[in-house]
Amino acid sequence: MIPLRSFLFVPGDSEKKLGKVDGCGADAVILDLEDAVAPANKDAARTLVAEFLRARPKAERPLQIWVRVNPLGSGLTLADLAAIVAVEPDGIVQPKTDGPDDVRTLSHYCDALEAQAGLEPGAIRILPVATETARAPFSLGAFADAKLDRLAGLTWGAEDLSAALCASGNRDADGTWAFTYRMVRSLTLMAAHAAGVPAIETLHADFRDDEGLRATSRAARAEGFTGRLAIHPAQVAGINESFTPGDEEVAFAARLITAFEAQPDAGTVGIDGKMYDIPHLKAARRTRALHEAALHESRSAQDR
Ligand code: COA
Ligand code: MG
Repeated sequence: MIPLRSFLFVPGDSEKKLGKVDGCGADAVILDLEDAVAPANKDAARTLVAEFLRARPKAERPLQIWVRVNPLGSGLTLADLAAIVAVEPDGIVQPKTDGPDDVRTLSHYCDALEAQAGLEPGAIRILPVATETARAPFSLGAFADAKLDRLAGLTWGAEDLSAALCASGNRDADGTWAFTYRMVRSLTLMAAHAAGVPAIETLHADFRDDEGLRATSRAARAEGFTGRLAIHPAQVAGINESFTPGDEEVAFAARLITAFEAQPDAGTVGIDGKMYDIPHLKAARRTRALHEAALHESRSAQDR
């Protein structure tokens, strides 16, 4: 199984946009019940999202279908879950979490609703957006020991955090994330790896900027993120490609592995005048494993 690379948000109240999901190419879609849906449309969105899931039974889905519910404390979470758990979303995106305790609470709600619907306990995964409140960054490290069986990864968001901090902006003059946002992004990355789950990069809001999307996605993958949120179908290809090892990278990984195999007692090797040691070997093996898994998945997709 390769980690999910692209998660495309689709407003849960838009029949038109829901109609574009099937061929969108994303590894997962996130049908939104939260901020993309106005308060007056919440009920209608729940109904549409539930129908959408019911029409695509879990075993037959060509892509994963996740749902973003409203946050704990909104008074809307239970109604969201009551509408969707029985029709088996692959996962739930949980916004505005303060920390692992919030994920545990949502997980308990899922336990009850899965049992009521006669579903496999724990099948529904949870991806928290783990940096959207002022408290959240202080609890990121606690995910490592929280033993949350449903935890599918950690992702981060800047916009709600800015609002929580009464900020008027979250970018530096050159357009890059301001320090606070770079800090919580790095903390999310480390917290995810400490917890042994994928780190998912936040969205690129400028959906016509394919070049910027690809450059920042490749940079995120180089740092240890394995996937990214998307808000527009045009972003899916760039994300999928950026989070898949390229030919050059795969070829270099093979060269590095061969060089170490040729000198089984060596802790370091030199290639083209540069030193490589065990962490590089580990990275090369990860690249090879990811490449082989991707080949395997594309072959089995062709067989289907
Ligand atoms: N999912 C499915 N279809 C989408 C889509 C999405 N996220 N975003 C755009 N589309 C569709 C549009 O409906 C449009 O269809 P059409 O060609 O039949 O008219 C087509 O793709 C092209 O869209 P475009 O005109 O480029 O964008 P837009 O102005 O219609 O929409 C947004 C821009 C940002 C409103 C839209 O991309 C969107 O709703 N994104 C998701 C927002 C969201 O869920 N946010 C919550 C998480 S932060
Ligand atoms: Mg938000």
